[in-house]
Amino acid sequence: MAEPLVAASILSADLSRLGEELQALASAGADILHLDIMDGHFVPNLSFGLPLIKAVAGKTTLALDAHLMVTNPADYVKPFSELGVRYFSFHAETVWHSHRLIQDIRSKGMKAGIALNPGTPLTSLEDVLTELDFVLLMSVNPGFSGQSFIPSVLPKISRLKQMITDRDLNTLIQIDGGVTDQNARQLVSAGTDILVSASYIFNQPDYSLAVGKLKRCLQC
Ligand code: DX5
Ligand code: ZN
Repeated sequence: MAEPLVAASILSADLSRLGEELQALASAGADILHLDIMDGHFVPNLSFGLPLIKAVAGKTTLALDAHLMVTNPADYVKPFSELGVRYFSFHAETVWHSHRLIQDIRSKGMKAGIALNPGTPLTSLEDVLTELDFVLLMSVNPGFSGQSFIPSVLPKISRLKQMITDRDLNTLIQIDGGVTDQNARQLVSAGTDILVSASYIFNQPDYSLAVGKLKRCLQC
């Protein structure tokens, strides 16, 4: 079983000490910095936008992963690419022209991903899967950190992995929501490549231990 990449979401970080938090995540061995962008329309919460991403981009060497939970993701492709964002995912539920948006994201040098809510079927990916660098499966309903993992997403990961294998693709699977040391092993054996975590990491006193448990499932 390959070791997953860990994407730490700063949604649960102490934003009053953001510089120190970023430093601690890098020392802890996190691979990616997950940025949860929420607009108060697609999801019932607001988070942060360009000014904070700009501040973060100047303070970390981790790859920036923007998860757009907004109704107008296309508006952010250019500004996010200019800030050095590496992974850009938008929700299938928010766009009419997903194929066009994927092309736009990739043409700016970013990796393109589609995010699916727990209730959105994998069939919505069928005709664009070959164009995608990654798929983000939500394992909670988007909007907040600290929610519990929805178990029906586990077989969904296996089915997505099968779709990717059947097409002989290298598309990565990212799982977001309720990820802990208790489910990391199952998630990775089902086919997850990137584990996103906010509350599990930031609630632990030792981020290195937390990231290590997610990566190597030490206590699973
Ligand atoms: C939820 C966000 C997630 C969230 C994960 O809308 O997309 O990235 O920060 O939080 P945890 O890991 O606490 O479930
Ligand atoms: Zn997210």
